[in-house]
Amino acid sequence: MAMTLNKCLFNVLFFFLAFAMLLPALDAKNEPQMDKYWKLRAHKSFIEAQKAYNPDPKMVTDSIRESIGRFLRGYMNFELSMRRNLMKRYEGPCLATNPIDQCWRCDPNWGKNRKKLADCAIGFGRNAAGGKHGRFYIVNDTSDDILNPKPGTLRHAVIQPKPLWITFARSMIITLKEELMVNCNKTIDGRGYNVHIAYGAGITLQYVQNIIIHNIHIHDILPGAGGMIRDSTEHVGLRTQSDGDGISLFGATNVWIDHVSMYRCGDGLIDAIMGSTAITISNSHFTNHNEVMLFGANEKHEQDKFMQITVAFNHFGKGLVQRMPRCRLGFFHVANNDYTHWLMYAIGGSSNPTIISQGNRFIAPPNVSAKEVTKREHADESEWKNWTWRSEGDLMMNEAFFVQSGNPNYDPKTNETLFAAKPGHMVTSITRFAGTLRCKKGFEC
Ligand SMILES: *[C@@H]1O[C@H](CO)[C@@H](O)[C@H](O)[C@H]1NC(C)=O
Ligand SMILES: *[C@@H]1O[C@H](CO)[C@@H](O)[C@H](O)[C@H]1NC(C)=O
Ligand SMILES: *[C@@H]1O[C@H](CO)[C@@H](O)[C@H](O)[C@H]1NC(C)=O
Ligand SMILES: *[C@@H]1O[C@H](CO)[C@@H](O)[C@H](O)[C@H]1NC(C)=O
Ligand SMILES: *[C@@H]1O[C@H](CO)[C@@H](O)[C@H](O)[C@H]1NC(C)=O
Repeated sequence: MAMTLNKCLFNVLFFFLAFAMLLPALDAKNEPQMDKYWKLRAHKSFIEAQKAYNPDPKMVTDSIRESIGRFLRGYMNFELSMRRNLMKRYEGPCLATNPIDQCWRCDPNWGKNRKKLADCAIGFGRNAAGGKHGRFYIVNDTSDDILNPKPGTLRHAVIQPKPLWITFARSMIITLKEELMVNCNKTIDGRGYNVHIAYGAGITLQYVQNIIIHNIHIHDILPGAGGMIRDSTEHVGLRTQSDGDGISLFGATNVWIDHVSMYRCGDGLIDAIMGSTAITISNSHFTNHNEVMLFGANEKHEQDKFMQITVAFNHFGKGLVQRMPRCRLGFFHVANNDYTHWLMYAIGGSSNPTIISQGNRFIAPPNVSAKEVTKREHADESEWKNWTWRSEGDLMMNEAFFVQSGNPNYDPKTNETLFAAKPGHMVTSITRFAGTLRCKKGFEC
């Protein structure tokens, strides 16, 4: 108890220090967006990040193992029925292949019970409520006005101060003129249609909480020129050039990204920096991109020690090169993902991140110099041998190998009851429906 209290106190102090350090640093860089409005939001976000931080991350990693274990035990013939249909597009009855999908996909009334989704997340982002407590908002207009967004456009929806569950009136391609500045408590739910955010700027989650992004395609994202952009109904702020990330998290807390398909973005597909925490990225399909995910941009961002991110049930597919993800400082749980392609490496990092890799499948490329799953940067072995990077139940194919380091006892002992089957072998099935789903209202999805 005393230890917990001390730890708490330490965390509080730490956040205040990190915050105090951050402001002058940003001012020195002359970041124009840190006006009074953003300073207030930054401050609120640090408090939220501190609340969301879990001092016992093992509890969260264990809970994922348990939920997937429970799920698999409930499906004795799971692998058999999956294998039977492996080659063709799946045409059988609704089949949820992991505990997230099991929570909603096979409900023919998913279209009437959309908010049920908010209860389905697992991992560090599981408390992301999105717009669960708000009204529905239907996007019916693909146009984009960055200063005075028209009602019915995605930008008009996301800048609202109130919680909103945002859906779409039809299939559409939205080309954003500048980065989409999303406000707190929003779900962007593309189920039922083919919704693309493409050929323009990407999505920015800066100093926000409670965001769910579900079932949309994000691709061909380009850097934005910056300038004055409306980021809430009450505020317009000056932005520098945007990098061209698909989704950029900057001091964001409680974020869940599920069933998205992403490829070809100007910078990263998903970057999470500046103390972003309590995040889950799941059931998504990534292809054709160099630097896939960056978690932590700079070792000097001390607040990134509190970063806690789950990457689960994703398919890292064709045309990917590196950073799946590339981590600094925080705690990263990489579980039951299918890595079928990489050109340089899969998981990398620097500055003492903790990386727990469980039940993934890693298929190395033919290149004999790229068989290693892992890559450590900016550190000698004497230093990185203390970083906790553990691999458990991972399936290694085509001579892939994971160089472990750090405390071997860190990891919970494999519980044979929970893992009757080696989950690495099940990953093709678990991630079978990764990426966007074609859901039709009135039918199981
Ligand atoms: C589009 O949505 C907006 C905002 O809800 C609404 O005011 C407008 O009437 C809608 N337009 C059409 C064509 O449905
Ligand atoms: C977002 O929703 C949460 C929970 O409903 C609420 O406590 C918080 O104040 C909301 N945030 C904003 C900015 O409205
Ligand atoms: C092989 O892998 C190494 C190490 O990642 C890389 O530097 C090199 O460019 C790769 N060669 C080819 C042909 O892709
Ligand atoms: C690594 O850990 C060992 C044992 O805890 C410690 O003695 C050593 O100083 C550490 N090395 C570095 C470079 O931190
Ligand atoms: C393994 O998991 C089972 C089922 O949850 C539990 O009853 C058992 O105590 C666990 N064993 C160990 C060694 O943790």
